[in-house]
Amino acid sequence: MAPMRRYFVTTFGCQMNAHDSERIKGTLESLGFGEAAAPEDAEVLVFNTCTIREKPDQRFAAHMGNAKVLKQRNPDAIVAVGGCYAEAQRERLFELYPFVDVAFGPGTIPHLANWIGANGEGIARGAFGIAEERSFSAELPLQRERRFQAWVQVSMGCNSKCAYCIVPSVRGREVSRRPGEIVAEVTRLAEEGVRELTLLGQNVNSWGRDLLPGLRTEFGELLRACDAVEGIERIRFTSPHPKDFREPVIAAMAECRAVCEHVHLPLQSGSSRILKAMRRTYDADRYLRLVDRLRDAIPDLALGTDIIVGFPGETDADFEETLRVVEAVGYDSAFTFIYSPRRGTEAAELEAQVPDEVKHERLEQLVDVVQRIAADRNAERIGGVEEVLVEGTSRTDEALLRGRTRRNTTVVFAGEARPGALVDVHVEGATSTTLRGTQAALVAA
Ligand code: 5AD
Ligand code: SF4
Repeated sequence: MAPMRRYFVTTFGCQMNAHDSERIKGTLESLGFGEAAAPEDAEVLVFNTCTIREKPDQRFAAHMGNAKVLKQRNPDAIVAVGGCYAEAQRERLFELYPFVDVAFGPGTIPHLANWIGANGEGIARGAFGIAEERSFSAELPLQRERRFQAWVQVSMGCNSKCAYCIVPSVRGREVSRRPGEIVAEVTRLAEEGVRELTLLGQNVNSWGRDLLPGLRTEFGELLRACDAVEGIERIRFTSPHPKDFREPVIAAMAECRAVCEHVHLPLQSGSSRILKAMRRTYDADRYLRLVDRLRDAIPDLALGTDIIVGFPGETDADFEETLRVVEAVGYDSAFTFIYSPRRGTEAAELEAQVPDEVKHERLEQLVDVVQRIAADRNAERIGGVEEVLVEGTSRTDEALLRGRTRRNTTVVFAGEARPGALVDVHVEGATSTTLRGTQAALVAA
């Protein structure tokens, strides 16, 4: 028997991309390929790319350097590039990297399978899946990393026009997946042993509005339908746009047992002037009122966010406003970014670009504030008990277990439990990102 041909998938970017990669792997497996331990051992190299900022572009370029060497060593190897960078660069990709065999945009994974064909036959060089051919990949085979956790795509694309963001132009207009299909997938996953779901969409809170009149619905209803599926213990979702976070979703979060007490609520800026220039369509006061409504409805809610510093025209006073909102909300976690101009976006054309030095200073200052607040909020958990979904062993100490609370905080603890188990942990220590503790049964014993 001929040895099995092997693939290696390298993934950049967000959870949507990570989920797409599960489908890419599943699809390749169904074509008879096996996963290689390293790119050097693979005949099919797939890169699922991101282009949200310059950094992922640069990381991808470094990977292409390695791919070129591998291809020289083995000219029969296939180099496939998918995802957002591929879509943004289109044909230029083949000029930049002539050794690339196939490229495909986000949401066009079935094309990858067609191009590669059964057992690597019939590769069409230069073929490219275009946005009009996008489809939900839910029907594709899937290779999940963890048996008990799953991502479920609820929509693709985005109708917002955030001035800094490349996503709408690479992922196209928003299309909601039909509720029946989503619930059927969730039911199937629960039967397979999944306990935690993360519903994925570029703007989950506008889900359902584009469906045919007979099907038209909203995200709160979807949360309730998923909550009703037996076996699902935890439901998360990402990302909601503050402009579309309406009462029915807040009520569903408050009332559904499985929906976790955690919201990732991208702020982007605390300055209403900058928010306007970003075309976020809310101002700082409206955002803060939403936070109040969420906290009133969901006691003990954890809040995360995304913040960009150095958007064109951002003054010291604007940045101070961001710090003020960060203090006022008291986030449990925050992803902080330096504004990165993306070709083809509105903001990239603006005159008043902020100097790099200023951007870096602001980022540093923001990170200090974010970390101080997160450390304080985590310290408040010391002495309490948290329900933890065990994910594996600690990355730094194999004797300890690692998992996450419903509020999405990572916990490293002494205990005895298998991945996928829900255990109670006594919290004994905290940093800005992690809680430390001991499993409750062990404390009692
Ligand atoms: N520069 C910096 N950060 C960006 N984001 C999106 N576009 C850019 C950009 N051009 C950030 C936003 C978004 C997160 C996924 O990435 O904060 O919420
Ligand atoms: Fe995800 Fe945006 Fe990166 Fe595409 S560009 S992978 S949507 S973060």
